[in-house]
Amino acid sequence: MSQKSEPWIDFSGRICVVTGANGGIGTGLVRAFAALGADIAMIDRVETSGTLEEEVRRAGRKALSLVCDVSDISSVEKAAEQVRSELGGCDILVNNAGLLRPGKLEALDAADWESLIAVNLHGYFHCVQAFGRQMLERKRGALVHVASIAGSQPQAFSGGYSAAKAAVAMMSRQLAFEWGPSGVRSNVVSPGLVRTPLSENFYRTPDVKERREAVVPSRRIGAVEDIADVAVFLASDRAGYVNGQEIVVDGGFSQTLMSHIPRPGYE
Ligand SMILES: NC(=O)c1ccc[n+]([C@@H]2O[C@H](COP(=O)([O-])OP(=O)(O)OC[C@H]3O[C@@H](n4cnc5c(N)ncnc54)[C@H](O)[C@@H]3O)[C@@H](O)[C@H]2O)c1
Repeated sequence: MSQKSEPWIDFSGRICVVTGANGGIGTGLVRAFAALGADIAMIDRVETSGTLEEEVRRAGRKALSLVCDVSDISSVEKAAEQVRSELGGCDILVNNAGLLRPGKLEALDAADWESLIAVNLHGYFHCVQAFGRQMLERKRGALVHVASIAGSQPQAFSGGYSAAKAAVAMMSRQLAFEWGPSGVRSNVVSPGLVRTPLSENFYRTPDVKERREAVVPSRRIGAVEDIADVAVFLASDRAGYVNGQEIVVDGGFSQTLMSHIPRPGYE
């Protein structure tokens, strides 16, 4: 074995596209991939303040910030062409842009169902197509989709959220099969509770942070870095034989089902 010390993960010369780059987890993803040498294309429907882009450039990487609505296929195709012409094509896609449209299913406005599916599912597919084709041409690449534990556990009163996340996880497995022979891997990272602008509303209720921490075996709310670390691994050559898998990053929360059963003497 070589004694030479090389970084465990090195994305030098790779181009990573992060969608939802301005959000909580997105910002963490951009920082993590840039720190490991990747040039970054940041995609979001809202324009950045430019600070994150500056941060990436200060780290010595190329940064391209694009306003793009992932639910609009022509907007995504235009962004993909810009990435190709300005950075040279996508090596890693992290599908992450998402939103919430909560409501009880019997009362949910159909427009809320549709707008959630348009971003959280169709948006992921649009990016897979537009950026994945660039990977297929070069016969290498990695897709990482940010799904959720809500994709395997029904999240009540959340409209189409769980359905969209479950569909993303299945799409990823299908991609692993279809694109594996062309050198492109597809995997999922599924966060549990993470405090970001998306979930911030919940934390405005007094005690909710403590109550949430109490139901997580690791006794803390996840940080964006917890998710980014796993996404980085899945996108890297260190996960070169990992394809069609899901890694749940939830501090053990999804393992607590049995604790809901009253079992006198076992508390
Ligand atoms: N925060 C959590 O607890 C949690 C838990 C599980 C899964 N997730 C998932 O992680 C991902 C990121 O969530 P977050 O918590 O960072 O949310 P966030 O709201 O902080 O960030 C989401 C980003 O996506 C962008 N976006 C929304 N619609 C878009 C569109 N049509 N086109 C382009 N960009 C768009 C938003 O502008 C925002 O910058 C989402 O897919 C979410 O479902 C989050």
